Amino acid sequence: MKKSATILVSGGAGYIGSHTVWYLNQLGYRTIVFDNLSTGFRQDMLGDVNRIGDLQNPWDLKRLFLQEPIDAVIHFAANIAVGESVKEPLKYYRNNTVSLVNLLETMQASGVKKLVFSSTAAVYGNPVLCPISEDAPIAPVNPYGHSKAWGEQMLRDCASAYGMDFVALRYFNACGKAPATHLGEKHDPETHLIPLVLDAVAGRRPPLKVFGNDYNTLDGTCIRDYVHVLDLAQAHELALQKMGDGGSFSAFNLGNGQGHSVLEVIRAVEEICQKPVPFEFAARREGDPAVLVASSAKAKEKLGWKPKFESLQSIIKTLVQ
Ligand SMILES: NC(=O)c1ccc[n+]([C@@H]2O[C@H](COP(=O)([O-])OP(=O)(O)OC[C@H]3O[C@@H](n4cnc5c(N)ncnc54)[C@H](O)[C@@H]3O)[C@@H](O)[C@H]2O)c1
Repeated sequence: MKKSATILVSGGAGYIGSHTVWYLNQLGYRTIVFDNLSTGFRQDMLGDVNRIGDLQNPWDLKRLFLQEPIDAVIHFAANIAVGESVKEPLKYYRNNTVSLVNLLETMQASGVKKLVFSSTAAVYGNPVLCPISEDAPIAPVNPYGHSKAWGEQMLRDCASAYGMDFVALRYFNACGKAPATHLGEKHDPETHLIPLVLDAVAGRRPPLKVFGNDYNTLDGTCIRDYVHVLDLAQAHELALQKMGDGGSFSAFNLGNGQGHSVLEVIRAVEEICQKPVPFEFAARREGDPAVLVASSAKAKEKLGWKPKFESLQSIIKTLVQ
């Protein structure tokens, strides 16, 4: 795909979408942001074209595809909170799964055949082996994970039925920001650890709750794999370049391959900010696996992915300049 291609970015006003648009713009792509601003921000819409519209409304999509030439789609738009998905599963099945049907139907009718899909480590549920590779069983344990696993299945089926090409990128814990930009992670409510720790150290929130200190890990707290948002952006661009030529589906894990415990994240923030992080231990949350760490060997080998922010410290530093 030429670097001048036009890329439609659904959810491009959100955290990972806006960073990816920023990254694609630097490389010369023409970007179209499509977002309903349900959790995204107007000031973070950095496309050459910016459209407010809803994937749940097929007419919004039809209008867009009629008006704009589109070479490929990156589909970020979704609801992303695991806890909320347990309380409101239909919201997730509608917005994450039905919306994808609308998008695929519009693409198929318009002859647009390439899409990169935001998938997630949540499709693996509670994995038996770590690091997790792409051939681990798909066994989600909550509606959010199911909504993404079904999305992937739809892509597999559409690839062979309609000769379309898809890449599903299964992110682990996205974090960090593009330095010297106003972009950043602004989820509300925020459920991700690094922004919560930074809020706690800055006194913007009450002491951080650390859920569980009796896991079978070195310090008893959960271990996760943190991957910088610009490294994710890089992988999306590589996926566009390496996409198949009719009828392909492939999935790649995107993580750093190094696990960090909650206490390690707290200590790293304390070291960088030179301040103690107020925190207290609380009971485990149901459904939190002890360790989630990716093997990203496949993305490195097949996509040529080279993450630039490999240490936890380098990721956190992008948030505290
Ligand atoms: N943040 C993470 O750590 C993480 C990890 C794994 C996977 N993901 C996936 O990455 C994607 C982006 O996550 P994020 O953290 O940037 O979330 P986000 O909430 O910041 O961004 C989602 C964007 O999609 C938009 N949107 C939602 N529903 C829409 C609809 N029906 N029509 C149009 N726009 C709609 C929102 O307004 C928002 O701008 C999601 O698909 C998520 O499942 C995120």
